[in-house]
Amino acid sequence: MVDRNGWGRDRHVLTGSLRRPPSSFVEQANVTESGIHEAFEENWPECWERAADLLSWSDAYDTVLEDEDAPFYRWFQGGTLNASYNCLDRHLEAGRKTHTAIRWEGKHGERETYTYRDLFVAVNEFAAALGDLGVEEDDVVTIYLPMIPELPIAMLACARIGAPHSVVFAGLSADALATRMAAAESEYLVTCDGYYRRGDAFNQKSKVDNALLGLEQDVQTVVVDRLGDDLPHVLGNNEHDYYDLVDAFAGETVDPVPRDAGDMLFLMYTSGTTGEPKGVVHTTGGYLSHVAWTSHAVLDIKPEDTYWCAADIGWITGHSYIVYGPLALGTTTVMYEGTPDYPDRDRLWEIVDRNAVDIFYTAPTAIRAFMKWGEEYPAQHDLSSLRLLGTVGEPISPRPWNWYYEHIGTENCPVVDTWWQTETGAVTVSTLPGVDEMKPGAAGPGLPGIDVRIVDESGAEVDAGEAGYLTIARPWPGMARTLYDGDDRFLTEYWDRFSNPDREEWRYFSGDAARVDEDGYITVLGRVDDVINVSGRRLSTMEIESAITDVPGVAESAVVGRSSETKGTDIYAYVSTEGGYDDTAAVREAIIDNIEAAIGPFARPEGIVFTPELPKTRSGKIMRRLLEDVANGEELGDTSALRNPEIVGEIQAEIRDE
Ligand code: WT7
Repeated sequence: MVDRNGWGRDRHVLTGSLRRPPSSFVEQANVTESGIHEAFEENWPECWERAADLLSWSDAYDTVLEDEDAPFYRWFQGGTLNASYNCLDRHLEAGRKTHTAIRWEGKHGERETYTYRDLFVAVNEFAAALGDLGVEEDDVVTIYLPMIPELPIAMLACARIGAPHSVVFAGLSADALATRMAAAESEYLVTCDGYYRRGDAFNQKSKVDNALLGLEQDVQTVVVDRLGDDLPHVLGNNEHDYYDLVDAFAGETVDPVPRDAGDMLFLMYTSGTTGEPKGVVHTTGGYLSHVAWTSHAVLDIKPEDTYWCAADIGWITGHSYIVYGPLALGTTTVMYEGTPDYPDRDRLWEIVDRNAVDIFYTAPTAIRAFMKWGEEYPAQHDLSSLRLLGTVGEPISPRPWNWYYEHIGTENCPVVDTWWQTETGAVTVSTLPGVDEMKPGAAGPGLPGIDVRIVDESGAEVDAGEAGYLTIARPWPGMARTLYDGDDRFLTEYWDRFSNPDREEWRYFSGDAARVDEDGYITVLGRVDDVINVSGRRLSTMEIESAITDVPGVAESAVVGRSSETKGTDIYAYVSTEGGYDDTAAVREAIIDNIEAAIGPFARPEGIVFTPELPKTRSGKIMRRLLEDVANGEELGDTSALRNPEIVGEIQAEIRDE
């Protein structure tokens, strides 16, 4: 594997000093035991019963962890439960019917409130409708919806009948939807006519029509009418109107299907090191336990809170911390359809103020944008309801960390910098805000029970202060069970590199580089594989390259990440053309169109540089690392080992002239 992103790049290396979380917070925190790290260590893996105890089980589990088939670990084996029951029914049984479950804030100021009872009714009706369409336990239902209430409703309806959902982010392209549906052999799709994007009615259904054209399987499609008269649509064969369906099952209830702890709750596709997205499989018992536990211990969610994770449910953050975690704990979760700057740059703070939000969780890319816009926007609102702030998705350096702490948290809220991944299911590295001190620029220690080790190429732990690969030496409940694409790929992607099966030593490799300091705090330095993280969204350079090389006239391409003030990383593409394609403007346009069609608009490169050739080693390998240094304007090392060293100067001249 090439260390393409080079962990030597030092932009996040500085950390601040340790800081105590505000005592007013600690006094009321869910978890305050100072010895909790040691207690989990001494009692591992039984310590994880604390997570499982936050749920209601239909049948109690026999074992906490079964590792016979490692690294295909089985958590809470023998136990059965239903995720929808845990997120709904049990709260009604506890007399919390009228408590608000979802507070939805629409893009144009529309508002909707679902009590737990309302959500229960909506989920049951749609579960009945899905059953009527023919969905059976274990059938994969694809959901391709923007941030509207029908998205979590559809997810919970699937969970209720034991049908794993596969949510595809609404901004992904028709091709991306088709690839995912084909890979999962999914025969059911829940989508909508369209949604508002930059004020316009955007047609989602036409993307769906294109996607379905290329699929072999027959698909039953349910269409939510989001836009009404703003976007009239006609339903064809095998297409069903969402509201007609649920009307036909008004008041109907469906018994929640007890699922084995290890049964798949959902599938989530994410970018990997090859062009093929990986179908990450999450379980019902392990995943839900870990998500509930971290919602409780890290995000400090209490049932009476109004909690807001400003992410999209189409990615793992929204699955775990807009839907499953907060609803399992019976809190009020805010769901926001719009963007932070519409109608103005104070929109998020207006929502915090009006709803008296207690907990706010967002990404560093958003925080960097708030910082750039200026403190006058949050200053227009009363943010004193806030008790805890969280960040996720990318490294956050001390400056935006401090800005967040001062201007949003007014120095009264701890900030938790939570490191995790689609594959880890839930937070794995973070401070516990009621226990640990915070350190701006470092995510924190591994959570209690999570054994993070920063290792060198040989798997040996590196010294404090040195960079290495971020690995995890023991299983944890929220971990992916496998990849839907097959167990072999699960092994090669995550386990082969640092494990020693002969000694029954299993090490999960995250794909990230990190440092650990004398306090045991981990600073994540970024990806070391062919994945780039753009505004907290994970993209595969190979996937982008293949969309580029599909364009007629393109000979070769290399995609790298370039440091960006606001996005963290942006996409930079080098392209060489075939003879006869001198009109690079036309090729450039075709490249952008093709990337948007293959992945989505958010994968557009920030820069495209045309060059007669790409720099290569004598064996013909493209020198991506070097191209990354060029994009970042860094000092270049010795290039004499290249087959075509002269090309590097030409590329630099081309970039200067732009
Ligand atoms: C990658 C996972 C699960 C969160 C949303 C992204 C990066 C995530 C942090 C953090 C530094 C972070 C890593 C990781 N990342 N959180 N607090 N500090 N980097 O999920 O799409 O699976 O991406 O996001 O590089 O590997 P994802």
